[in-house]
Amino acid sequence: MNDTCSMDLRIELDHLKQNDLLRELRTFGIIDAVRLDYQGRTVLNFASNDYLGLSKDARVINAAVRALESYGTGSGASRLVSGSLIIHAELEERIAAFKRKERAVAFPTGYMANVGIINALFSKGDQLIIDKLSHASIIDACAMSQAEVRVFPHKNYKRLREILKRTSSFKKRCIITDSVFSMDGDCADLRELIEIKHDHGAILMIDEAHATGVFGTFGRGLAEEQGVEDEIDICMGTLSKALGGLGGYIAGDNDLIRFMHNKARSFIYTTALSPATCAGIIAAIDIIEEDISLRQTLWNNVKMVQDYLKDIIGINVGSQSPIIPVIVGESTAALELSDRMLERGFFMPAVRYPTVPRKSARLRISLSAAHTENDIRRMLNALGEEYSKIIG
Ligand SMILES: Cc1ncc(COP(=O)(O)O)c(C=O)c1O
Repeated sequence: MNDTCSMDLRIELDHLKQNDLLRELRTFGIIDAVRLDYQGRTVLNFASNDYLGLSKDARVINAAVRALESYGTGSGASRLVSGSLIIHAELEERIAAFKRKERAVAFPTGYMANVGIINALFSKGDQLIIDKLSHASIIDACAMSQAEVRVFPHKNYKRLREILKRTSSFKKRCIITDSVFSMDGDCADLRELIEIKHDHGAILMIDEAHATGVFGTFGRGLAEEQGVEDEIDICMGTLSKALGGLGGYIAGDNDLIRFMHNKARSFIYTTALSPATCAGIIAAIDIIEEDISLRQTLWNNVKMVQDYLKDIIGINVGSQSPIIPVIVGESTAALELSDRMLERGFFMPAVRYPTVPRKSARLRISLSAAHTENDIRRMLNALGEEYSKIIG
């Protein structure tokens, strides 16, 4: 890097720091599903998307270890070369059966699944209409495509209808939304979106990243919960949150998946998922389908936190999921609250612009079935005290 370039980077980093927007990596040791070792202290983790604690479940770990022993650490190549192993086929069959779709395809990350499908399916002459609070991977995927991109205000389906009414000369039109929004924890109204897609001949794509394993009697996601699985045209999800592993998936009909094999560049030009990851996820899906008690514990935890925030601290969070934002406004206040909570042994990071809109910096609490009632009570008591010191 030459001197001018280094100087430019330093100026920009200094600018971020002055505005409390600089991000620094923290390094943790792992004690168990919700306990971290941080600088020699044990802290409770309220910042993981491992909603059911499955990344530390012995059944999941054993399945991964067995695969590691028989397949080795890596898959060795991309899927269309020699990296498509029996365990990948097993994983994709398992995902398809779980999501009640004909077929599925796995990507190395959820980000790549969104980039892959959106760019494979949509280009010049098409229109993508997305919720303003869609995940960055959807926004980036849309920006990469040659399609026209329109954004409707968060869950403002009246505005969505107006956009769709205005022109209809596009080849394909696709409505894209998170099913559970990753920073606010609220849910899309899939029934209404289905009505809208029918009224305007659009395609509906949902991102079930934070819903998979969490919503629905059998954990299949928000589409299961709202009873609309058959009406979703493109169902995307991640393997990295409640499933405890890594990766993303698209579930749909046979032709859609074959099309992905041929056209999704983030599927074609990258090394296949590791066999151990695939095996761990298959075991996690089995647990999710067979054992509803983990989900019950998770939802009890969610209710406990929502009730406390509303009744004791006076915050109505508006979240409908294990993602619970405590919005404090300015980045400085969010950082201070997060630092104080860490000092008291609870890790919940401040989420700031550009991840969330300016002046809506927050602590993002995420809950797990692995948190005990005692863990949560202690965290809430500390949060109540620190929140009132900073926010009043
Ligand atoms: C809604 C949503 N979609 C996609 C992704 C990307 O998934 P991954 O982390 O597996 O790349 C995330 C994760 O952060 C997410 O929250």
